[in-house]
Amino acid sequence: MNHFLKLLDLTKEEIISILDLADQLKTQNKQGIEHHILKGKTLGMIFEKSSTRTRVSFETGMYQLGGHALFISSKDAQIGRGEPTEDTARVLSRYLDGIMIRTFEQEEVETLAKYGSIPIINGLTDFCHPCQVMADLQTIREHKGKLEGLKMCYIGDGNNMANSLIVGGLKVGMSVSIACPKDYQPHADVLAFAAAYGNKFQMTEDPMEAAKNADVVLTDVWASMGQEKEQAIRAAAFAGFQVNDALMAVTNEGCMVQHCLPAHRGEEITAEVFEAHADEIFDEAENRLHAQKAILVTLMADKED
Ligand code: CP
Ligand code: NVA
Repeated sequence: MNHFLKLLDLTKEEIISILDLADQLKTQNKQGIEHHILKGKTLGMIFEKSSTRTRVSFETGMYQLGGHALFISSKDAQIGRGEPTEDTARVLSRYLDGIMIRTFEQEEVETLAKYGSIPIINGLTDFCHPCQVMADLQTIREHKGKLEGLKMCYIGDGNNMANSLIVGGLKVGMSVSIACPKDYQPHADVLAFAAAYGNKFQMTEDPMEAAKNADVVLTDVWASMGQEKEQAIRAAAFAGFQVNDALMAVTNEGCMVQHCLPAHRGEEITAEVFEAHADEIFDEAENRLHAQKAILVTLMADKED
Protein backbone atom coordinates (compact mmCIF):
# COMPACT_ATOMS: atom_id res chain seq x y z
CA MET A 1 0.00 0.00 0.00
CA ASN A 2 1.57 3.32 -1.09
CA HIS A 3 -1.26 5.74 -0.26
CA PHE A 4 -4.50 5.92 1.71
CA LEU A 5 -6.84 7.76 -0.64
CA LYS A 6 -10.15 5.87 -0.41
CA LEU A 7 -11.35 2.52 0.92
CA LEU A 8 -12.25 1.40 -2.61
CA ASP A 9 -8.46 1.03 -3.16
CA LEU A 10 -7.89 -1.33 -0.21
CA THR A 11 -8.38 -5.06 0.07
CA LYS A 12 -10.20 -6.62 3.02
CA GLU A 13 -6.82 -7.96 4.24
CA GLU A 14 -5.26 -4.49 4.14
CA ILE A 15 -8.16 -3.03 6.14
CA ILE A 16 -8.00 -5.80 8.75
CA SER A 17 -4.23 -5.52 9.04
CA ILE A 18 -4.52 -1.76 9.79
CA LEU A 19 -7.23 -2.50 12.38
CA ASP A 20 -5.04 -5.16 14.05
CA LEU A 21 -2.11 -2.74 14.19
CA ALA A 22 -4.42 -0.02 15.54
CA ASP A 23 -5.48 -2.32 18.39
CA GLN A 24 -1.85 -3.16 19.15
CA LEU A 25 -0.81 0.51 19.14
CA LYS A 26 -3.76 1.37 21.38
CA THR A 27 -2.78 -1.27 23.93
CA GLN A 28 0.83 -0.07 23.87
CA ASN A 29 -0.31 3.54 24.21
CA LYS A 30 -2.29 2.63 27.35
CA GLN A 31 0.79 0.83 28.70
CA GLY A 32 2.90 3.94 28.14
CA ILE A 33 5.19 2.21 25.64
CA GLU A 34 7.16 4.79 23.61
CA HIS A 35 7.76 4.42 19.88
CA HIS A 36 10.45 5.73 17.57
CA ILE A 37 9.08 4.07 14.43
CA LEU A 38 8.80 7.39 12.56
CA LYS A 39 11.84 9.09 14.12
CA GLY A 40 13.14 11.85 11.86
CA LYS A 41 10.04 11.80 9.64
CA THR A 42 7.73 14.73 8.98
CA LEU A 43 4.07 14.62 7.97
CA GLY A 44 2.66 17.71 6.24
CA MET A 45 -1.02 18.27 7.05
CA ILE A 46 -2.79 20.43 4.44
CA PHE A 47 -6.18 21.74 5.58
CA GLU A 48 -8.59 23.44 3.18
CA LYS A 49 -11.47 22.86 5.66
CA SER A 50 -11.82 23.12 9.44
CA SER A 51 -10.92 20.27 11.79
CA THR A 52 -10.59 19.42 15.46
CA ARG A 53 -10.20 15.61 15.61
CA THR A 54 -8.27 15.03 12.41
CA ARG A 55 -5.72 17.75 13.05
CA VAL A 56 -5.12 16.97 16.71
CA SER A 57 -5.07 13.16 16.33
CA PHE A 58 -2.66 13.21 13.37
CA GLU A 59 -0.35 15.72 15.05
CA THR A 60 -0.38 13.80 18.35
CA GLY A 61 -0.03 10.49 16.53
CA MET A 62 3.10 11.62 14.69
CA TYR A 63 4.59 12.86 17.96
CA GLN A 64 3.83 9.57 19.71
CA LEU A 65 5.52 7.67 16.88
CA GLY A 66 8.68 9.75 17.26
CA GLY A 67 8.06 11.96 14.21
CA HIS A 68 6.88 15.49 13.58
CA ALA A 69 3.76 16.99 12.02
CA LEU A 70 3.47 20.30 10.23
CA PHE A 71 0.14 22.14 9.94
CA ILE A 72 -0.30 23.79 6.53
CA SER A 73 -3.40 25.95 6.20
CA SER A 74 -4.39 26.51 2.60
CA LYS A 75 -5.24 30.10 3.61
CA ASP A 76 -1.55 30.79 4.17
CA ALA A 77 0.06 28.47 1.62
CA GLN A 78 0.41 29.15 -2.12
CA ILE A 79 -1.95 26.24 -2.88
CA GLY A 80 -4.73 28.52 -1.59
CA ARG A 81 -3.68 31.18 -4.13
CA GLY A 82 -3.87 28.79 -7.06
CA GLU A 83 -0.44 27.13 -7.23
CA PRO A 84 -1.14 23.89 -9.11
CA THR A 85 -1.53 20.73 -7.03
CA GLU A 86 0.91 19.02 -9.42
CA ASP A 87 3.65 21.49 -8.41
CA THR A 88 2.75 21.47 -4.71
CA ALA A 89 3.03 17.67 -4.75
CA ARG A 90 6.50 17.73 -6.29
CA VAL A 91 7.80 20.50 -4.03
CA LEU A 92 6.48 19.02 -0.77
CA SER A 93 7.82 15.58 -1.74
CA ARG A 94 11.32 17.10 -1.54
CA TYR A 95 10.83 18.11 2.13
CA LEU A 96 8.35 15.75 3.71
CA ASP A 97 7.90 12.01 4.26
CA GLY A 98 4.11 12.01 3.94
CA ILE A 99 1.13 14.32 3.41
CA MET A 100 -2.30 14.23 4.97
CA ILE A 101 -4.79 16.45 3.13
CA ARG A 102 -8.33 17.58 3.91
CA THR A 103 -9.95 19.22 0.92
CA PHE A 104 -13.03 19.37 -1.31
CA GLU A 105 -12.37 17.43 -4.52
CA GLN A 106 -11.22 13.81 -4.39
CA GLU A 107 -9.39 14.64 -7.63
CA GLU A 108 -6.99 16.89 -5.72
CA VAL A 109 -5.96 14.05 -3.40
CA GLU A 110 -5.48 11.69 -6.34
CA THR A 111 -3.41 14.34 -8.16
CA LEU A 112 -1.14 14.80 -5.13
CA ALA A 113 -0.56 11.05 -5.13
CA LYS A 114 0.07 10.97 -8.87
CA TYR A 115 2.62 13.79 -8.96
CA GLY A 116 4.22 13.40 -5.52
CA SER A 117 6.68 10.71 -4.51
CA ILE A 118 5.63 10.28 -0.85
CA PRO A 119 2.57 8.63 0.77
CA ILE A 120 -0.66 10.66 0.63
CA ILE A 121 -3.43 10.22 3.21
CA ASN A 122 -6.99 11.44 2.66
CA GLY A 123 -8.12 13.34 5.77
CA LEU A 124 -11.61 13.95 4.25
CA THR A 125 -12.89 15.02 0.86
CA ASP A 126 -16.42 15.61 -0.38
CA PHE A 127 -16.28 12.03 -1.67
CA CYS A 128 -15.04 10.12 1.34
CA HIS A 129 -13.64 10.05 4.88
CA PRO A 130 -11.62 6.83 5.03
CA CYS A 131 -9.61 7.61 8.21
CA GLN A 132 -12.83 8.15 10.13
CA VAL A 133 -14.28 4.85 8.98
CA MET A 134 -11.14 2.96 10.06
CA ALA A 135 -11.73 4.37 13.56
CA ASP A 136 -15.42 3.43 13.33
CA LEU A 137 -14.60 -0.16 12.37
CA GLN A 138 -12.01 -0.38 15.14
CA THR A 139 -14.60 0.82 17.68
CA ILE A 140 -17.34 -1.51 16.47
CA ARG A 141 -14.97 -4.51 16.59
CA GLU A 142 -13.77 -3.48 20.06
CA HIS A 143 -17.34 -3.33 21.41
CA LYS A 144 -18.84 -6.28 19.52
CA GLY A 145 -15.80 -8.56 19.31
CA LYS A 146 -16.25 -9.01 15.54
CA LEU A 147 -17.32 -7.27 12.34
CA GLU A 148 -18.23 -10.15 10.04
CA GLY A 149 -21.98 -10.80 10.02
CA LEU A 150 -23.02 -7.63 11.86
CA LYS A 151 -25.59 -5.26 10.38
CA MET A 152 -24.47 -1.65 9.92
CA CYS A 153 -27.17 0.97 9.36
CA TYR A 154 -26.53 4.54 8.19
CA ILE A 155 -29.25 7.19 8.36
CA GLY A 156 -29.05 10.58 6.63
CA ASP A 157 -27.03 12.27 3.92
CA GLY A 158 -25.42 10.09 1.24
CA ASN A 159 -22.21 12.04 1.80
CA ASN A 160 -18.51 11.33 2.38
CA MET A 161 -19.28 9.33 5.55
CA ALA A 162 -21.97 7.26 3.85
CA ASN A 163 -19.67 6.51 0.91
CA SER A 164 -16.82 5.29 3.13
CA LEU A 165 -19.06 3.35 5.51
CA ILE A 166 -20.71 1.43 2.68
CA VAL A 167 -17.37 0.43 1.17
CA GLY A 168 -15.64 -0.28 4.50
CA GLY A 169 -18.59 -2.16 5.99
CA LEU A 170 -19.13 -4.40 2.97
CA LYS A 171 -15.40 -5.11 2.53
CA VAL A 172 -15.04 -6.38 6.11
CA GLY A 173 -18.07 -8.66 5.82
CA MET A 174 -20.84 -6.61 7.42
CA SER A 175 -24.24 -6.16 5.85
CA VAL A 176 -25.02 -2.50 5.23
CA SER A 177 -28.39 -0.78 5.09
CA ILE A 178 -28.73 2.86 4.34
CA ALA A 179 -31.64 5.31 4.42
CA CYS A 180 -31.21 8.61 2.57
CA PRO A 181 -33.72 11.01 1.01
CA LYS A 182 -34.07 10.42 -2.73
CA ASP A 183 -32.06 13.50 -3.76
CA TYR A 184 -29.22 12.81 -1.30
CA GLN A 185 -28.01 9.35 -2.24
CA PRO A 186 -24.44 8.03 -2.05
CA HIS A 187 -22.00 8.44 -4.94
CA ALA A 188 -22.70 6.41 -8.10
CA ASP A 189 -19.27 4.70 -7.91
CA VAL A 190 -20.07 3.50 -4.40
CA LEU A 191 -23.50 2.23 -5.42
CA ALA A 192 -21.91 0.38 -8.34
CA PHE A 193 -19.41 -1.20 -5.91
CA ALA A 194 -22.19 -2.15 -3.47
CA ALA A 195 -24.34 -3.71 -6.20
CA ALA A 196 -21.94 -6.65 -6.35
CA TYR A 197 -22.81 -7.52 -2.73
CA GLY A 198 -26.43 -8.48 -3.52
CA ASN A 199 -28.74 -8.51 -0.51
CA LYS A 200 -25.87 -7.66 1.88
CA PHE A 201 -26.51 -4.07 0.74
CA GLN A 202 -29.89 -2.44 1.17
CA MET A 203 -30.87 1.12 0.26
CA THR A 204 -34.20 2.64 1.20
CA GLU A 205 -35.88 5.98 1.86
CA ASP A 206 -37.45 4.55 5.05
CA PRO A 207 -35.17 4.96 8.11
CA MET A 208 -37.22 2.43 10.16
CA GLU A 209 -36.79 -0.19 7.48
CA ALA A 210 -33.03 0.41 7.37
CA ALA A 211 -32.66 0.29 11.16
CA LYS A 212 -34.51 -3.00 11.64
CA ASN A 213 -32.23 -5.49 13.46
CA ALA A 214 -29.18 -3.23 13.14
CA ASP A 215 -26.14 -3.89 15.36
CA VAL A 216 -24.75 -0.40 14.86
CA VAL A 217 -26.45 2.81 13.73
CA LEU A 218 -24.40 5.66 12.29
CA THR A 219 -25.33 9.12 11.18
CA ASP A 220 -23.72 12.42 10.20
CA VAL A 221 -24.64 16.08 9.84
CA TRP A 222 -27.25 17.08 7.29
CA ALA A 223 -25.09 19.89 5.86
CA SER A 224 -21.40 19.09 5.49
CA MET A 225 -18.52 21.54 5.33
CA GLY A 226 -18.96 23.66 2.20
CA GLN A 227 -22.77 23.16 2.21
CA GLU A 228 -23.57 25.67 4.96
CA LYS A 229 -25.74 27.77 2.61
CA GLU A 230 -27.98 24.75 2.00
CA GLN A 231 -28.71 24.30 5.73
CA ALA A 232 -32.40 25.33 5.55
CA ILE A 233 -33.27 23.36 2.44
CA ARG A 234 -31.45 20.32 3.81
CA ALA A 235 -33.19 20.56 7.20
CA ALA A 236 -36.51 20.22 5.33
CA ALA A 237 -35.29 17.36 3.12
CA PHE A 238 -33.89 15.39 6.08
CA ALA A 239 -36.85 15.78 8.46
CA GLY A 240 -37.65 12.22 9.53
CA PHE A 241 -34.08 11.03 8.99
CA GLN A 242 -33.19 11.36 12.65
CA VAL A 243 -31.59 8.83 15.00
CA ASN A 244 -34.03 8.91 17.92
CA ASP A 245 -35.55 6.54 20.47
CA ALA A 246 -38.25 5.33 18.06
CA LEU A 247 -35.64 4.36 15.50
CA MET A 248 -33.41 2.70 18.12
CA ALA A 249 -36.41 0.65 19.30
CA VAL A 250 -36.40 -1.45 16.09
CA THR A 251 -32.67 -2.24 16.24
CA ASN A 252 -31.09 -5.32 17.82
CA GLU A 253 -30.55 -5.39 21.56
CA GLY A 254 -27.23 -3.78 22.46
CA CYS A 255 -27.18 -1.82 19.20
CA MET A 256 -24.34 0.72 19.16
CA VAL A 257 -24.48 4.31 17.91
CA GLN A 258 -21.55 6.00 16.20
CA HIS A 259 -21.17 9.59 15.07
CA CYS A 260 -18.03 10.99 13.46
CA LEU A 261 -18.68 14.37 15.14
CA PRO A 262 -19.30 17.23 15.29
CA ALA A 263 -22.94 16.33 16.08
CA HIS A 264 -26.00 18.57 15.77
CA ARG A 265 -28.31 17.46 18.56
CA GLY A 266 -31.96 17.79 17.61
CA GLU A 267 -31.14 17.40 13.91
CA GLU A 268 -29.56 14.11 12.78
CA ILE A 269 -29.52 12.71 16.35
CA THR A 270 -31.47 13.48 19.52
CA ALA A 271 -29.64 14.55 22.67
CA GLU A 272 -31.12 11.48 24.43
CA VAL A 273 -29.69 8.95 21.98
CA PHE A 274 -26.39 10.82 21.81
CA GLU A 275 -25.93 10.83 25.59
CA ALA A 276 -27.09 7.22 25.97
CA HIS A 277 -24.30 6.20 23.56
CA ALA A 278 -21.73 8.85 24.49
CA ASP A 279 -19.14 6.28 25.66
CA GLU A 280 -19.21 4.53 22.28
CA ILE A 281 -19.09 7.83 20.40
CA PHE A 282 -16.10 9.14 22.37
CA ASP A 283 -14.32 5.76 22.06
CA GLU A 284 -14.79 6.29 18.33
CA ALA A 285 -13.27 9.78 18.56
CA GLU A 286 -10.32 8.39 20.57
CA ASN A 287 -9.76 5.65 18.02
CA ARG A 288 -9.02 8.26 15.35
CA LEU A 289 -5.64 8.53 17.08
CA HIS A 290 -4.92 4.80 17.16
CA ALA A 291 -6.30 3.96 13.71
CA GLN A 292 -4.37 6.81 12.10
CA LYS A 293 -1.14 5.84 13.84
CA ALA A 294 -1.62 2.43 12.23
CA ILE A 295 -2.09 4.08 8.82
CA LEU A 296 1.02 6.24 9.35
CA VAL A 297 3.14 3.23 10.35
CA THR A 298 1.82 1.16 7.44
CA LEU A 299 2.68 3.86 4.91
CA MET A 300 5.69 5.66 6.36
CA ALA A 301 7.78 3.25 8.44
CA ASP A 302 11.06 2.13 6.87
CA LYS A 303 10.51 -1.24 5.27
CA GLU A 304 12.73 -4.08 6.48
CA ASP A 305 14.54 -5.92 3.68
N1 CP B 1 -14.75 13.59 12.49
C1 CP B 1 -13.85 14.47 12.07
O1 CP B 1 -13.19 14.29 11.04
O2 CP B 1 -13.69 15.56 12.88
P1 CP B 1 -12.92 16.90 12.54
O3 CP B 1 -13.68 17.59 11.44
O4 CP B 1 -12.93 17.67 13.82
O5 CP B 1 -11.52 16.58 12.09
N1 NVA C 1 -19.80 15.02 6.48
C1 NVA C 1 -19.06 15.89 7.37
C2 NVA C 1 -18.06 15.11 8.15
C3 NVA C 1 -17.28 15.91 9.13
C4 NVA C 1 -16.24 15.11 9.87
C5 NVA C 1 -18.40 16.98 6.57
O1 NVA C 1 -17.87 16.68 5.48
O2 NVA C 1 -18.42 18.13 7.00
